[in-house]
Amino acid sequence: QINLNLKETNLELEQRRNYMEIILKNVAAGVISLDSEGKITIINKSVGKILGLEVESVLNKNYRDILPPEYLQKVEDLLQEVDRNSSLTFEKEIELPLPSGTIDLHTHITPLKDENGKYLGLVIVIEDVTELQKAQRIAAWREVARRIAHEIKNPLTPIQLSAQRLRRRYKDKFSKDGQIFNECTNTIITQVEILKNMVNEFYNFARMPATKPLPNDLNQIINETLPLYREAHKNITFHFEHPEKMPALLLDKNQIKRALINILDNAVSAIKDNGKVTIKTFYDEKLNLSGVEIADNGCGILPEEKARLFEPYFSTKKSGMGLGLTIVNSIISDHHGYIRVKDNYPKGTIFRIELPVRSS
Ligand SMILES: Nc1ncnc2c1ncn2[C@@H]1O[C@H](COP(=O)(O)OP(=O)(O)OP(=O)(O)O)[C@@H](O)[C@H]1O
Ligand SMILES: [Mg+2]
Repeated sequence: QINLNLKETNLELEQRRNYMEIILKNVAAGVISLDSEGKITIINKSVGKILGLEVESVLNKNYRDILPPEYLQKVEDLLQEVDRNSSLTFEKEIELPLPSGTIDLHTHITPLKDENGKYLGLVIVIEDVTELQKAQRIAAWREVARRIAHEIKNPLTPIQLSAQRLRRRYKDKFSKDGQIFNECTNTIITQVEILKNMVNEFYNFARMPATKPLPNDLNQIINETLPLYREAHKNITFHFEHPEKMPALLLDKNQIKRALINILDNAVSAIKDNGKVTIKTFYDEKLNLSGVEIADNGCGILPEEKARLFEPYFSTKKSGMGLGLTIVNSIISDHHGYIRVKDNYPKGTIFRIELPVRSS
């Protein structure tokens, strides 16, 4: 009888373990558990995906033995903050510089204890919130731009109208100083006009027109955009490759053109003399993804700049507004797509735009 009970209990335990494993395998969050010594006892696939590592190779090892020194310090600092006597979950956002770019992680850390309150280790849950934070930062900047634009715009028209009125009224009344009066009022009127245009640009960024996606051929949009560049930049070869079969995508043609133009403009200005820009469209039937990669062999982008590329007003150019890629990013997210940046080899930059293939 005892034997039978034992067997049943074992079977039940085994089933529960399998059940747990299935859950761990399928959650998008990364789950790691450490025993009291710091040995990794559980690590699920999502951790590998988020951090870009082979989870099998680190299982059952002490985290202190496997982490490179620059990460180890960060992790030790983080774990220091967790109160091991409490059973509350500790939460913190951290920035983690990975070879593929800095990511923002939301971490939840819970100390584990047995029924006597003895410390058994930690469970760490990590989520990649990079995209979310990027979107929030852009939303915040849009709001700032919208408000500034609004506040600046209001007094401009009365200033301009007053200057015009003064001109009409007094232009002929000055004999000696007529020239000065003329020049000054003229300056006010034209400079206010320039300010107005600038503010309007802010405003357009803050409220981009709503996307109107329709079934469109991405290759055709590229074919319509390229001739301009081929004509204007004879020192650069523009090479366009596309697969034979590409599905129609739901695209707002004008906005996608605007995005392409911004990326191509950047590519062109990254190239000093003779350069090459390769535009490649792709279609992944299994992942239901399509899109385009634009590669240049220009000066490339420093790793520390990569994280800020899509932020408003980030520019390394003398005359750059730093809005180009911000606009591209918001156009692509309006299309439910992703844009990422990679290094080109041996030099230069690749921008990859991924768009979902949706039946219309
Ligand atoms: N293909 C590229 N090669 C090298 N650096 C690039 C490339 N694309 C973008 N960058 C870098 O990213 C920065 C931001 O680009 P973004 O298009 O947002 O602004 P910008 O080109 O400086 O100004 P503008 O608002 O006129 O587009 C650039 O200043 C440049 O440093
Ligand atoms: Mg630009």
